[in-house]
Amino acid sequence: MKCLHPLALATLLCTSGLVFASPSLDDKEAFINDLIQRMTLEEKVGQLRLISIGAEMPRQRIRQEIAAGRIGGTFNSISRPENRPMQEAAMRSRLKIPMFFAYDVIHGHRTTFPIGLGLASSWDLPLIENSARIAALEASSDSLDMTFAPTVDIARDPRWGRTSEGFGEDPFLVSRVAESMVRGYQGEGANSPQRIMSVVKHFALYGAVEGGRDYNVVDMSPMRMYQDYLPPYRAAIDAGAGGVMVALNAVNGVPASANTWLLQDLLRRDWGFKGGVFSDHGAITELMRHGVAADGAEAARLAINAGVGMSMADTLYDQELPKLVKSGAVSETVLDDAVRHLLGTKYDMGLFHDPFLRIGRAEDDPADVNAEQRLHRDEARAMARDSMVLLENHADTLPLSKKATVALIGPLADSPVDMLGSWSAAGIPEQAVTLRTGMAKALKGQGMLMYARGANVTDDPHVINYLNQLNWDRPEVVLDKRTPQAMLEEAVRVAAQADVIVAAVGEARGMSHESSSRTRLDLPDSQQALLRALKATGKPLVLVLMNGRPLALSWEKENADAMLETWYSGTEGGNAIADVLFGDHNPSGKLPITFPRSVGQIPTYYNHLRLGRPYTPGTPGNYTSQYFEEPNGPLYPFGYGLSYSDFKVSAPKLSAERMAADEKIRVNVTVRNAGTRAGATVVQLYLRDEAASVIRPVKELKDFRRVKLEAGEVRELSFEIDEPMLRFYDASLRHVSEPGAFRVQLGLDSENVQEARFELLPRQ
Ligand code: BGC
Repeated sequence: MKCLHPLALATLLCTSGLVFASPSLDDKEAFINDLIQRMTLEEKVGQLRLISIGAEMPRQRIRQEIAAGRIGGTFNSISRPENRPMQEAAMRSRLKIPMFFAYDVIHGHRTTFPIGLGLASSWDLPLIENSARIAALEASSDSLDMTFAPTVDIARDPRWGRTSEGFGEDPFLVSRVAESMVRGYQGEGANSPQRIMSVVKHFALYGAVEGGRDYNVVDMSPMRMYQDYLPPYRAAIDAGAGGVMVALNAVNGVPASANTWLLQDLLRRDWGFKGGVFSDHGAITELMRHGVAADGAEAARLAINAGVGMSMADTLYDQELPKLVKSGAVSETVLDDAVRHLLGTKYDMGLFHDPFLRIGRAEDDPADVNAEQRLHRDEARAMARDSMVLLENHADTLPLSKKATVALIGPLADSPVDMLGSWSAAGIPEQAVTLRTGMAKALKGQGMLMYARGANVTDDPHVINYLNQLNWDRPEVVLDKRTPQAMLEEAVRVAAQADVIVAAVGEARGMSHESSSRTRLDLPDSQQALLRALKATGKPLVLVLMNGRPLALSWEKENADAMLETWYSGTEGGNAIADVLFGDHNPSGKLPITFPRSVGQIPTYYNHLRLGRPYTPGTPGNYTSQYFEEPNGPLYPFGYGLSYSDFKVSAPKLSAERMAADEKIRVNVTVRNAGTRAGATVVQLYLRDEAASVIRPVKELKDFRRVKLEAGEVRELSFEIDEPMLRFYDASLRHVSEPGAFRVQLGLDSENVQEARFELLPRQ
C-alpha cells in the first residue's frame, strides 16, 4: 500500500505500516500544512516564483520548469489554449500543485470600461461593482484566476501618471470604490468559476510619490498615513481581497518590499491579513538600487523576511533563497509562511479542487477570443455614460440638436486606442467606438457630421518618441504627416460650415500611464493652438476632454461654451459620449479629484488640514497661505459636476443638536429636480471637527447618496451620523473621537454646501 498523504494531524504513523487518511480538501489548513510538509526546499521556492509570459522565458522551457515544480504562477498569458498546457505541466509535477494565471484586469478585460478615475466619477457603487463582475466574467472565461487590481492609491498630485488608474484623492470615496471592485471581482468567493481573485495594490502609499514623479520616495507622517492613505487598502482587504501587491516606493526610508513594519506589523498583525503578498515587477532586485541591499542575497533575505511572498518577474528568490535557507540566514519557518499564504490563495481560487476550473475543456475554447458576442457593450456603455462629468454648459449649449451640422475636430476624435486608456487589459482598439463613430451613428438620417483632425495630439518629437517607446504592441501615437498649419486650416474651414464645434482634446493615453509623470498639466501646444483657432471662428465651442488626470484648463474654462470630461471611456466610449452630447443621457458624474488652475498650485486636494493663517476669499490676502499671482482655490472642486437638470438641495435638518457617543443624529435634506428632464445627482455629506487635539481637515466626505429624480420630483434623504464617523487618528495614532462641536455640510459638491452644527457630548 502506498502512503500518499501523510497528514501531520493524523494519529497513525505511515511507517507503522498503517495508512493515513489524506487530509480532506475541505480542511484548508490541514491540507496546506500537509502539502508543505511534503515539499522540498526547491519546490517551496518554486511556488514563490511568478513569471511574466513573454520575454522572460521561451514557452517550451516554461513548461519544463513548471513540471519540475519551479514556477508557481504566471501573468500575461491570457487565453485557454495558452494556459492549458501549463496547467497540464503542473499536473505532471511531483506534487501536482496547480498554477494560477494572473493579469492586470484593471478596468475591464475584453470589454474595456472607463479608467479608474472615470469609474469613480460615477459615484455609482452598484454599477462599478458590476463593471468588475463583468471583467471577472470575461477574464475567467479566458482562464484567468487573478487580477492585480484594484489600484487604490490615493492620488493628490496629478503630475503622477498613475492618477488615471486609481479612484482619486478622497479616502472615503476611494475606499467605497475599492470595496465595490473587490466584491465585483470576487463575488461571494474567489473560488467561483466566474470570478477571479483580487490583488489590491500598491501597498502602500504609491500615490504619494514625491513631486508626482513615478517610483519616487514617499515620506509621510504616520498621522496622514493612517488618516488618509491607508484606509482604501484596508477597505479592500476587509472586503475580502485575496492578495496584496507591494508598492515600488520606499515608505519613510525603507522600501515597501523590505519594510517589515508595513508588511508584518501593519498588514499581518494589525489588520489580520491572511492572503498572499506579491512583489511588484522586479521589486526585489530593485532593493539593491534603493541601496538597502548590498547584493542579491541580501535583497532576497530582506524581502522574504519582511513578508514579500511571491516574487514577480524577479530571479533573486530562486537564485538565493535555497542557499539562504540552507545557511540559516532565512529560517525555513519564514519560507513556509510565505508558501502557506501563497498556497492559501490557490486554495481560495478553487484551484486545488479543480486546477482547470477556469481553463475548461479544449472543445469549449472560443474560436475567436475577440468575437463580438464575448463583449458586454451595453454594460460598458451604461458605465461610461455615468462616468462623464459636465464641467461647463453656458446657455444650455448642450445637449446638441440631432438636426445640427456638427464639426467634430481634434486629435482624439477618431483615435480608438485612446478610447481605451492605459492598462486596457485584453481590450483591442479595433472594437472601441470612437467619438466620430458614435456621433455619426447618433446623427444618422438627421443632422450632419463633419470631421477634421485639426492637430496632432502633440508636435513635440521628444514626447512622441517617449510615448511610442512605452512598450506596447503598436505605436501609441500615429501622426498625421501634414503640417500643423495645413491641419489647422482644414479644421477652421470645416468649423466655418457647421452650427457647432465639438473639439475632442486631451492627452494621448500613454501620457497618463505608469512612468508617465508630467511637469505640465495644460493641453499640449498643438491642441491649444487648435482651440484658439476654433474659438476665433465664433461658433459655439464644445470641448470633449479625454485625459487621465486633472488638467489645468483655465483658458478652456473661460472660452468653451460647454466642456465635458470623459476620461478614457472604454470600448463603448464614442456611443456613450454621443448619448450625453445629444441628450439621450443626462450627465451625472462628479469629480473624484480636484482640478487645479496650474501646476504650481499642487497639491489642491479639498480635505486639507486647517491652518493658522488660511487664505479667506474676499479678504486681503497678505500674510495668509496663498499664491499671489493667480486666484486661489481649485478650478473645479472635488465632487463637482453639472447636469442638464437643475438640482436643489435644502438646508440640512438635524434630529438633535447634541449626541452622546452611543447615539445617532439623523440629517434630513430634500433634493428637488427643478429641471425639465430626469437625471441623477450625488448628495454629499461632509463633516468638520471644530476643535480637536490635533489639526483636522477643513472638511471630510463621510457619506453620499446618488439619487435619480424625474423632472420636478422631490425626494427626502436621510443620513445618519454616529460616533465612529467622528473618529480620527490622534497624535498617538489612537483612533478616537473627541467631544465638542462639529459641522455637518451637505451639497452637490465639496464647496457649495449648506451646514448645521451639533455637539458630541463627553462620555459619562
Ligand atoms: C505595475 C503593476 C502591475 C505589474 C504587472 C508593474 O509595472 O507597477 O501595477 O501589476 O507591472 O503588470
